[in-house]
Amino acid sequence: MSKSAVQQVGLAMQRVVWSRRASSWDEMSNPGLERVISELVEYVGDRPEAIAIDLGCGSGQLSIPLAAHVKEVVAVDIAPRMVELLDDKLKRAGISNVKPSVGSVQELGLGDGAVQLVVSNYVLHHLSDREKAEFVKDAFRWLSPGGELVFGDMMFGRGGTAEDRKVIADKVKVLLGKGVGGWWRIAKNGVRYLFRIQEKPISLAAWVGLLKEAGFEEITSKRIVAEAAIVCARKPA
Ligand SMILES: C[S@@+](CC[C@H](N)C(=O)[O-])C[C@H]1O[C@@H](n2cnc3c(N)ncnc32)[C@H](O)[C@@H]1O
Repeated sequence: MSKSAVQQVGLAMQRVVWSRRASSWDEMSNPGLERVISELVEYVGDRPEAIAIDLGCGSGQLSIPLAAHVKEVVAVDIAPRMVELLDDKLKRAGISNVKPSVGSVQELGLGDGAVQLVVSNYVLHHLSDREKAEFVKDAFRWLSPGGELVFGDMMFGRGGTAEDRKVIADKVKVLLGKGVGGWWRIAKNGVRYLFRIQEKPISLAAWVGLLKEAGFEEITSKRIVAEAAIVCARKPA
C-alpha cells in the first residue's frame, strides 16, 4: 500500500497517542475486553503448528495468552512504548515464542501465505474505511490456504440501523452512570466518533461484506458485550 501524506500523518498520530497511553492501557482492567480476548483465544484453540500475527498487539493482552496455543506469535504494534512493555513482560515470564516488533498494519511487508492466523483486538477501528478494505485484502494474501482471520473490535455504524442505535444508547447509558468521568468520556469519544478522529468503527454487517468481497469463506461472528464483537473468517483451502 503506498502512503499518502494524510495517511502518514494519521500513522504518526497513532504512534504518539498510543506510546503516551501505553502504561495506562496496560494497567487498565476491563472485564468486557477480557471477555473478548478469552473468546478470541478460545476460538483459536490449540494449533501447535500455526504461526500467528497479532496486529496492534499493544502490551500483549492477546499475544501472551495466545502464545500457549500456537507455535509462534509475531506481535506488531505501531507504538514503540507498547512493544517495549510487551518485551519486558516476555522476558520476565520467560516466553520465547512471541516475537515483538514495531510496525503498522498498513505497512507490513509480509509475504503471501506467510502465516496461518491473523489476529487482532481493538485495533481495526483506528483504520480509515479504505484502509479496512485494504487490510482485509492484505490479510487474505498473508494467510496460507485454509488460514483464518480472527479479530475482535467495537463494531457499530453511524446510527443508520436499529442495532447501531441500541449499541450507542447502551454505551451512553453505562457511561452516564459513571459520574463525571463517564460524562467526560461521552463528550470526548462522542466528538471522536462524530468526526471520525481515531474512533472509526463500522458495523458487523459491513465487516462481513468486506470479508466476502475479499474471498473469505466460513464467516462467523458473535457479539460479546454491547459494542464489541468477534469475527472469524477462513481463506479457502
Ligand atoms: C486499544 S489498544 C489494543 C491493544 C491490544 N490489542 C489489546 O487487546 O490490549 C490499540 C492498539 O493498536 C495500536 N495501533 C493503532 N493503530 C495501529 C496501526 N495502524 N498499526 C499497528 N498498530 C496500531 C496501538 O498502538 C495500540 O497498542
